[in-house]
Amino acid sequence: MSLAGIKSIEDFELKDQRVFIRLDLNVPIKNGVITDDTRIRAALPTVKYALDHKAKIILCSHLGRPKNSEDRKDFSLEPVADRLSELLDAEVQLVEEPGSDTPKALLSGIHRRQLILLENIRFDPGEEKNSMELANKIASYVDIYINDAFGASHRAHATIVALPSIIKKKGLGFLMKKEIEMLDKVLIEPAKPFCALMGGSKVSDKIGVIEHLLEKIDTFVIGGAMAYTFLAAQNISVGSSKIEKDKISLAKELLGRLDARKKKILLPVDHVIVERLEKDAPSKICDVAIPAGFMGVDIGPKTIELFSQELKKAGTVFWNGPMGVFEMPPFSKGSFKIAEVLADSTAVTVVGGGDSAAAVNASGFANKMTHISTGGGASLEYLQGDKLPGIEALRPPQRGPQK
Ligand code: 3PG
Repeated sequence: MSLAGIKSIEDFELKDQRVFIRLDLNVPIKNGVITDDTRIRAALPTVKYALDHKAKIILCSHLGRPKNSEDRKDFSLEPVADRLSELLDAEVQLVEEPGSDTPKALLSGIHRRQLILLENIRFDPGEEKNSMELANKIASYVDIYINDAFGASHRAHATIVALPSIIKKKGLGFLMKKEIEMLDKVLIEPAKPFCALMGGSKVSDKIGVIEHLLEKIDTFVIGGAMAYTFLAAQNISVGSSKIEKDKISLAKELLGRLDARKKKILLPVDHVIVERLEKDAPSKICDVAIPAGFMGVDIGPKTIELFSQELKKAGTVFWNGPMGVFEMPPFSKGSFKIAEVLADSTAVTVVGGGDSAAAVNASGFANKMTHISTGGGASLEYLQGDKLPGIEALRPPQRGPQK
């Protein structure tokens, strides 16, 4: 996607300006403790840049999908404010009501090592409705708008779309720029052979990417739960494995199309299977057909070898979706071994966000990947050729014909 005409944070004089930075700080939190702060760390370069350039900073993010006011405690950004404060060595003040006069008042007396973080913006129903009313209230205390929330840029929400539509000075942060550059490496001229490594549970989530990149991809390596739907499409027994029954015919059609284009397709040839999905359930290995009463929870050793040999030959690998139920340690071997192979490879390795990013982080090989996207849905939408509303909203208005 061309970013031509879109400004970046470096294009603005930030000193003493009220700079609103939309981030995606939607991190996993258990009992008030952040279990993975990758997204917070990824946001730091832009926030530090604004701090160093003496801006008056307002940070904003959503967290999860709160439904009503009872969810306020569970979905509060308070732990995120604390973490940011530690990482930035600055005071992060959490402001409850983004649409109130409080932010404006605080900004007038803000000091250099102090930032404002608006409380979870999804507590305001206007956010998801892309409300102009909410955007106008926020705009009353903002001079410059920066979007660095790649992971949320596929959402047409008020602080992603409506707000930049009414602020003249607007641009991208460093994370957004990096994400687009890295995903363009896959999208535009991938080093060959180009291998798409797909996993996770839903065929339907990946279909758009497969279709959009069909001509460019040389090899499709399919593992994880979605592989069972593809095996079922070939009339191979999958036992009680999780499959998308309504996607079997789509999988069959897709296999036919890939075959007609002489694309290489690798599916699991063996599996780790259990009778019930529990971490201490006894498991065994079976060949390609899964017996009745058993479900697949990871790829088997022959499949790990088969996939590894293919991945070693690749010039580019795009990985989206884990190879098994990696959250349960006995079933993490497939995902972790594949991460290790990619870590040792010289290929450009780009990992789509969400579960695949979590699997790579848990494997300990995250720092060996070329890029791990902070956006799950956003990276998939980008790679399937969709325009991201959050980027489109940063383009300067089109000039009409001259009269
Ligand atoms: C994500 O986790 O993918 C982003 O933060 C977007 O969250 P959402 O799917 O709830 O809009």
